[in-house]
Amino acid sequence: MLNILVLHGPNLNMLGTREPTVYGPATLEEINATLKTLGKELGVTVEARQSNIEGELVTWIQQAASQFQGLLFNPAAYTHTSIALRDAIVGVGLPMVEVHLSNIHRREGFRRQSYLASVSVGQISGFGPQSYTLGLRALIYALEAKA
Ligand code: DQA
Repeated sequence: MLNILVLHGPNLNMLGTREPTVYGPATLEEINATLKTLGKELGVTVEARQSNIEGELVTWIQQAASQFQGLLFNPAAYTHTSIALRDAIVGVGLPMVEVHLSNIHRREGFRRQSYLASVSVGQISGFGPQSYTLGLRALIYALEAKA
């Protein structure tokens, strides 16, 4: 059975109250519950974690290779700044799908740059919470195609 690690970056613990016109009304707990239910339907296990701390995300990525086969990752603002997260993904070599609730390409110019996109299997951006469910399906598809 595939084990998938879902990582959420900074400020995503505030979903539901944070800029609802941009990110919508769903809370992180609701998004995680939906992913776990979908995981069950698709026959994979899903573990979800959130951190506001870049180094904690780096450590979780480093440790993930022993337990997980793929990463579903919303790096939030670190998308646009973090070479450390990019290096961690490359270092462990786990397939990663990058997701964003908002369409980062339709927003401020600084959000168009992702340090993670070129080391991801692909990026899904702009579908609200559905970005995560689409991303989980895409990650499983990629992992099964590779197997
Ligand atoms: C985000 C987009 C980022 O630019 C922003 O910093 C976030 C959330 C998204 O899911 O749309 O925190 O990753």
